[in-house]
Amino acid sequence: MDRDDAAYKGQREYTRPFLTIYDSLVLGFFAPVVWRIPPARLVEEYRRHLGDRHLDVGPGTGYFLDRAGIHDHQAVTLLDPNRNVLEFASRRLQGHDVTLIEADVCKPLPVHGPFDSAALSGVLHCLPGPLPRKAVAIANVAAVLAPTGVLFGATILGDSGHSTRLSRTVLRTNNRRGTFDNLGDTLEGLREILEASFEDVELEAVGSMAIFAATGPRVNQPTDGTL
Ligand SMILES: C[S@@+](CC[C@H](N)C(=O)[O-])C[C@H]1O[C@@H](n2cnc3c(N)ncnc32)[C@H](O)[C@@H]1O
Repeated sequence: MDRDDAAYKGQREYTRPFLTIYDSLVLGFFAPVVWRIPPARLVEEYRRHLGDRHLDVGPGTGYFLDRAGIHDHQAVTLLDPNRNVLEFASRRLQGHDVTLIEADVCKPLPVHGPFDSAALSGVLHCLPGPLPRKAVAIANVAAVLAPTGVLFGATILGDSGHSTRLSRTVLRTNNRRGTFDNLGDTLEGLREILEASFEDVELEAVGSMAIFAATGPRVNQPTDGTL
């Protein structure tokens, strides 16, 4: 991680102690109660889309891959700028074919594709905004997918999302701290950045989150995020 990078604040929280309580706190409480999405819904997305060569960007604790189940013939690449995340998730997925890449999704990805599937679950809301600036992350993933590959995931929407008083308070607190940078993230804006890199985009709002799946990666040049 580079402390001077604009993306640093969205990466730095994931210390070993925090990862130890992440599943019960973030997935057991914040997801269903604050963002109003049951984690089981996201496990379903993993089961639906997980391909033989899978790239998981920002895997956190590895919860979703673990719950969805990785088959013996499947190979998984975990990509995250935070070493704690890579160590934690790979320990959990021990026994499977797992490759670790310490990298930032906003930069060209140092991976050998092509991948059949890639996940960006809970990552876009952590990246530096505004939303058009996050398009580079989508383009970088599209660039390493096979022509038949799929990008899927979920992200917390900003002020325009279906919110409650509690979710608005948590959203604002996390944006103040820099953990999130998503106040201006909208469903329409997300569609635009996905469509810039993919032919077909499925998008659904569930609670305060958007769930997406995109196929038909366009042949874009990955960029370094410089506008
Ligand atoms: C909220 S957690 C989501 C973890 C897991 N995917 C989930 O859905 O529970 C965000 C993850 O994105 C990673 N992350 C944050 N900024 C990133 C970046 N610029 N490039 C790649 N991963 C990033 C964090 O280190 C962390 O693993």
